[in-house]
Amino acid sequence: IAAEKAGYKHFMQKEIFEQPRAIVDTLRSVLDVNREVLRFSDLNLDASLVHKLRKVFLVACGTSYHACLVGKYLLEGLCRIPVEVDLASEFRYRKPLLDDQSLLIVVSQSGETADTRAALKEGLERGAHCRAIVNVVGSSLARMAHGVLYTHAGPEIGVASTKAFTTQVVAFYLLALHWARTSGTISDPEFSEHLRELLALPRKLEEVLDRADVLRDWAREFLKVEHFLYLGRGILYPIALEGALKLKEISYIHAEGYAAGEMKHGPIALIDENMPVVVLAQKGELYEKMLSNVQEVRARGGRVLAIVEGEQDPRLGESTWQFPVPETSPWLAPVVFSIPLQLLAYHVADLRGTDVDQPRNLAKSVTVE
Ligand code: G6P
Repeated sequence: IAAEKAGYKHFMQKEIFEQPRAIVDTLRSVLDVNREVLRFSDLNLDASLVHKLRKVFLVACGTSYHACLVGKYLLEGLCRIPVEVDLASEFRYRKPLLDDQSLLIVVSQSGETADTRAALKEGLERGAHCRAIVNVVGSSLARMAHGVLYTHAGPEIGVASTKAFTTQVVAFYLLALHWARTSGTISDPEFSEHLRELLALPRKLEEVLDRADVLRDWAREFLKVEHFLYLGRGILYPIALEGALKLKEISYIHAEGYAAGEMKHGPIALIDENMPVVVLAQKGELYEKMLSNVQEVRARGGRVLAIVEGEQDPRLGESTWQFPVPETSPWLAPVVFSIPLQLLAYHVADLRGTDVDQPRNLAKSVTVE
């Protein structure tokens, strides 16, 4: 087993570091770089179907559900098609309005999650077009759906999902680009620019991983607290949820992810020096609003840990802990920002001495309801 960890202490750590490679493999599986074409051989989603579809449903559990939340931003933003996202355990009980103009995409690392299987079965029975984004080749969901898009993360052993998640986001991005080009919602030059951004992503992730030690220092400082709040906006709101989930799963610290704009409607009441607040400070139209969230936290004695795009920013406050990440297109920020959050959760858990790869009460794949 030690050999399989390739020198890393835990599978989770190894899998975090494998992400640039996993993303390259996922890109290569569909992208012909020279001709700038995307080919989805097993997905079964041709132009005639794309033109016919009126609505998309994305359904999953756990971390894969968070990938779906990002997928909604990508598909709606680039393809201008309405998208609904559901937890698989809720989906079939709300009698979803599916028909032959609906596309249901289920997302799963294992391809075996019981609730997700049941959601797919619901879609098949109601006559929707059904596809799966799955990591494990030949798994139940891959076999049940009318088409499949494989993430190429490779085997994921750590219970807390990392590389499966970021490759799911990349898979959604590739799908959205293909769809947008087919339906004409982006131009050819725009398409090429998106591809350039995607190809630059693995190198940016390497840059973040090279500074992993900084997050270990953060972890040392914050490992004794009992609650954490994570704030994100827009396409990074799901990443705030995912960052909080990672920390909960493996460190057993209570953590909540929140849309930053909702802070004033509740969580602000909890803020003091004992509840650190992780903010995802993406540059762009919402950046100023995030700065005012940070001020509100600091005014109440809260400690802020900011993942900040580009350079460190004095406006985030002198006492704010800042971890800069490379600038990227807004569509890819979810991937870039995920890495420091995974590392933070990993190091907090490791320093607290929990069983990082097999946290208590959790299973890698939940095959019962
Ligand atoms: C379990 C795992 C999570 C995972 C979820 C969904 O809860 O511990 O890491 O996100 O199942 O699994 P799936 O294989 O369907 O993505």
